[in-house]
Amino acid sequence: MRASKRMQNLGTYFFVDITNKIAEKKAKGEEVISFAIGDPDMPTPKNIIDKLCQAAYQPDNHRYPETIGLPELRQAIADWYQKRFQISLDPSREVLPLIGSKEGIGHIALCLIDEGDVTLVPDPAYPVYSTSTLLVGGRVYYMPLTADNDFLPNFEAIPDEIVKKAKMMWLNYPNNPTGAIANIEFFDKVVQFSNKHSISICHDCPYSEVYFDEYQPISFLQADGAREVGVEFHSLSKSYNMTGWRIGMVVGNANMIDALMRVKSNLDSGIPQAIQYAAIEALSGSQNCINEHNAVYQKRRDLVVELLNDMGLITKSPKASLYIWAKVPDGYTSIEFANDLLEQVGVVVTPGRGYGEHGEGYVRLSLTVPDALLVKGLSQLANWHNTKQPFKSKK
Ligand SMILES: Cc1ncc(COP(=O)(O)O)c(C=O)c1O
Repeated sequence: MRASKRMQNLGTYFFVDITNKIAEKKAKGEEVISFAIGDPDMPTPKNIIDKLCQAAYQPDNHRYPETIGLPELRQAIADWYQKRFQISLDPSREVLPLIGSKEGIGHIALCLIDEGDVTLVPDPAYPVYSTSTLLVGGRVYYMPLTADNDFLPNFEAIPDEIVKKAKMMWLNYPNNPTGAIANIEFFDKVVQFSNKHSISICHDCPYSEVYFDEYQPISFLQADGAREVGVEFHSLSKSYNMTGWRIGMVVGNANMIDALMRVKSNLDSGIPQAIQYAAIEALSGSQNCINEHNAVYQKRRDLVVELLNDMGLITKSPKASLYIWAKVPDGYTSIEFANDLLEQVGVVVTPGRGYGEHGEGYVRLSLTVPDALLVKGLSQLANWHNTKQPFKSKK
């Protein structure tokens, strides 16, 4: 094979390495407790599965779906946005279902980025934002997200020559991996920045339904003028424990959605219709599962945060998202610390470096670990910590 140039710098997706390491350990008969991947452990709610099963028996659903999705699904997405965020969307122009949001996130760069164009990407961030731009020959400018700015990018710090070349910017709140949130004043600033410099905004929002205490996340589209400048990617994966079914959506700017629809119609044949019917049930049926899941995650969050802080790993309690972002002890890199935990305790955490340079110094723990395993994993961490005092002895 003579691989394309674009393959030269393309590694396997970050999590594949982690999954392989876990599989190796398990194959040797070792127990591994993984806090690594944000894949809900609780099942898809029964009403959704029931709808999926009924729809699977209908012969109409055995045939090719349309890329644009069932009109009933686009309507259900628009109705959900109206109910949840009080945003009115035109389901024929401002809504497009996706084969999981990762698929649309990966393809949107094809619509906006030519060779040499710049995409502004937060650092740390979900890796697909930068990979998609690099795959189409674009360049990535990383916007540092740091604790002293509440993990929000500072637009004033972006050099003028970069701003001039930038065509697209990624944002993600509630944030993976930091657990940070954004308010409407921040999103207003994003719209202003976008208007001033003609930069299309892609806001990725799969964690809006995982929230704690009295907080409820907002949508980027709630900012005035947002739909004139950008889109919001969303997903049923985390809200309804549907990661395995692969269904998400993008909503907002009609031109961006039309461009993505044209690209997709040339590449894919849509989402299996039975899954689309399941999604309609998820979005328009009872929403009780959201509070039920969040109550479970909140208890886990409190246990994890308490233990990590006892261990001296400075950790803020997130108000939303599935993630705890914890500082690693002095003397360790995030990869060294994660490796030690895996080798010595059998606990998997994600090294922050995997999300970018500014993720160094942190590890991410996901709350999607079943309760009994979570408690066991935390107690193993606590025991290990007691034998390790002080952490600085590492170097
Ligand atoms: C920030 C972020 N965006 C998008 C996705 C993709 O979600 P999906 O493709 O399951 O909709 C994930 C998955 O972990 C994520 O963390």
